[in-house]
Amino acid sequence: MAERQQWRSKLGFILAASGSAIGLGNVVFFSANAYKFGAGAFYIPYLVALLLIGIPIMILEFGLGHYTRKAFPQSLGQVAGKPGEFFGWWAILNACFIAMFYITILGWVVAMWVGSFGGLWQDAIAVPALGKEAGEWAVPKAYFYSQITQWKTAGFVALIWFLNAVIVWKGIRSIEKAVTIFVPLMWIFMIVLIVRGLTLPHGFEGVLFLFTPDFDALTKVHVWQGAFSQIFFTLSLGFGIMTAYASYLPKESDQVNNALMTSCLNCSFEFIAGIAIFSMLFVFAIAPEGGTLSMMFFVAPQGIAALPFGAKIFGILFFTMLLFAGLSSSISLVEALASGLEDKFGTSRGKLVVMITVFGTVGSILFALPMIVNQGTDHAGVLGLTLLDVIDHWSFKYGLLVAGLVECVLIAWIFGARRLVNSINETSRIPLGSWFVAFVQLVLPLLLVVVIGWSIKVEVEKGTLYGSGHIDNFAALGYIGFAVWVLGTLGGAFLLTRGGGKEVVADA
Ligand code: ALA
Repeated sequence: MAERQQWRSKLGFILAASGSAIGLGNVVFFSANAYKFGAGAFYIPYLVALLLIGIPIMILEFGLGHYTRKAFPQSLGQVAGKPGEFFGWWAILNACFIAMFYITILGWVVAMWVGSFGGLWQDAIAVPALGKEAGEWAVPKAYFYSQITQWKTAGFVALIWFLNAVIVWKGIRSIEKAVTIFVPLMWIFMIVLIVRGLTLPHGFEGVLFLFTPDFDALTKVHVWQGAFSQIFFTLSLGFGIMTAYASYLPKESDQVNNALMTSCLNCSFEFIAGIAIFSMLFVFAIAPEGGTLSMMFFVAPQGIAALPFGAKIFGILFFTMLLFAGLSSSISLVEALASGLEDKFGTSRGKLVVMITVFGTVGSILFALPMIVNQGTDHAGVLGLTLLDVIDHWSFKYGLLVAGLVECVLIAWIFGARRLVNSINETSRIPLGSWFVAFVQLVLPLLLVVVIGWSIKVEVEKGTLYGSGHIDNFAALGYIGFAVWVLGTLGGAFLLTRGGGKEVVADA
């Protein structure tokens, strides 16, 4: 059997892991969520989630990959037998839904990037497909809808899949090369944007707004749930990514140190991205809208368009930075699936990448469907965007947290948290004590159960379960989306666990 590849250097691994973590989630989702969930007060649940959930689960995910030197489904299989493997596939398939819509969003970023060379800065844009006259909406919003109501965005989505395929083609060899270019560039571009924002007259006032706390928000369950989901998403946890990446590490590497460095780089980027965006928005008195996509596609470009000079250059820089950040995350999503299939079936990487790209492109194009099915609703009734919202509701809001919970229970209660911690401690300069074992056994699962359970309760009470509250009178799509997600993840995991390939031998 061919020997498992290894990262060429620790730096290569840290660039890849932090590149996976830093993505669209950091640049826009964080700012939008912070604004929506109490501004400065949002940092409290965010930090609680980072310390209590984010860093410990990252240590477990790195530790698992390093211990087993296998992809996520096989790693969980090794520590918890067939149920572990089944659940590993379930988490990977949930991540596939996310990968598909993540790449669709990156396709839309390409459309906006192309626009940033000219069309995006026109005076007024009409969106005939939605019956909107030029000037009825602010230009970036009109431009965005004019793009996503055309088939050409499906072409951009296919282009992003093609780029992903090229980068993961040779596994971590090619991934390491790509992140060595993307990750430093995205930091440099973000630093340029932050300097521009803070040197604007009153730029600092926007930042103060971002940090002014609304403590009432802390009493609301959706704020805590939002912070927990944000931490999972932003740190790329519950996707199987970190375990796959750590499986390519040399035996002597230190997982506690790796987890601390990756989390720290990720959260610093998130922090400065918030400052960059808010400093630009408030100078021009642009109120951020609550939605995450609107922050990326309408509000931030509107702030950039209002810059006193160089709007075009900063616009190009903003969308290029989003593309680099997004690509270094999407390749990790594709790698998590590719490594799982490679470890299971031993199929050549080339064949796997072609298969994944074909399926993935079709799936992502579903989220880019430009037809208008329900004009006048939240998403202007664009079919792809509506489907994206429904699937996002399940795979992002619940899927990642459930993945984290089950992973934690399997490691803590079937394999034994102490055994994994002993393996981590063999190479860690900061040894994890018994408190960490007890924490993983009791506190982590309990916290996750409370957040998930509480959130479902609130949704049932409000009648928005199945995402139906998000799509107004087109609720049927909410139910269909839910059924596709449940059947796709559970059915797919069943088939992959049973479907031949290499048997995973569980550790005694
Ligand atoms: N962690 C990645 C992001 O934040 C998925 O976009």
